[in-house]
Amino acid sequence: MRTPIVIGNWKLNGSKAMAEALVAGILAERPGLSDIEMGVCPPFVFISQVVAQAAQAGMGVGGQSCAEHVTGAYTGEVSAEMLRDVGCRYVLVGHSERRTLFGETNAVVARKTRVVLDAGLIPVLCVGETLEERQAGNMNAVVGGQIEAVVDAVGIQAFDRTIVAYEPVWAIGTGQTASPEQAQAMHASIRAQLAAHSPAIAQAVRIQYGGSIKPDNAAILFAQPDIDGGLIGGASLNAEDFLVICRAAAGSLRLS
Ligand code: PGA
Repeated sequence: MRTPIVIGNWKLNGSKAMAEALVAGILAERPGLSDIEMGVCPPFVFISQVVAQAAQAGMGVGGQSCAEHVTGAYTGEVSAEMLRDVGCRYVLVGHSERRTLFGETNAVVARKTRVVLDAGLIPVLCVGETLEERQAGNMNAVVGGQIEAVVDAVGIQAFDRTIVAYEPVWAIGTGQTASPEQAQAMHASIRAQLAAHSPAIAQAVRIQYGGSIKPDNAAILFAQPDIDGGLIGGASLNAEDFLVICRAAAGSLRLS
């Protein structure tokens, strides 16, 4: 059985005080949610503070991105190894905002996945199609290509410590979530694609859904057989909303 995992992606939001209050609010309920894995991805500058507060309480911390390089003259970049050094467990790679706003191609995402794995961290590989790609019926080909580029670069075996996050671009931050059927279909397609390389790894890999998950839609999404938790943007900035979503993930365990 796959342990559901819920990760908050704070994006470009927060302050020292806000991070402390938000994490304290989440950790207050952490003991009752021990069946699931939980994490948060704050902006880089707050990571050390959040690790100090959260690590002992059993909540992982991740970077929202990292450099594709290991070290060197790359002003403004943060390496995967640095994230490991300050106590991170995860790094988001290939988030659609990185792909569309910062020009990250499948090749860049593949290289970032490699450096994250080499640093001993868990990549959360984000994939997803745009609305145009879905309307043209190309969503499986697009998402399949995003996955295959990484399998080619790191090998299927690396997916035994990689998390996949399916996030349709049209659902991110829009309030328009994929229907449970749409999400389940894509998750099943991703798992089938990985199974063509290794049935055992495909069975074990966790595939999160992301894109306008809110307290009122989390349970139905997490009840789908191939959805193993969520990557949460906006709703992760409110402790109670995030906790309702985490409880929905814990509740999905009881259904399975
Ligand atoms: P959202 O963001 O929940 O605000 O749609 C999800 C994400 O970008 O990971």
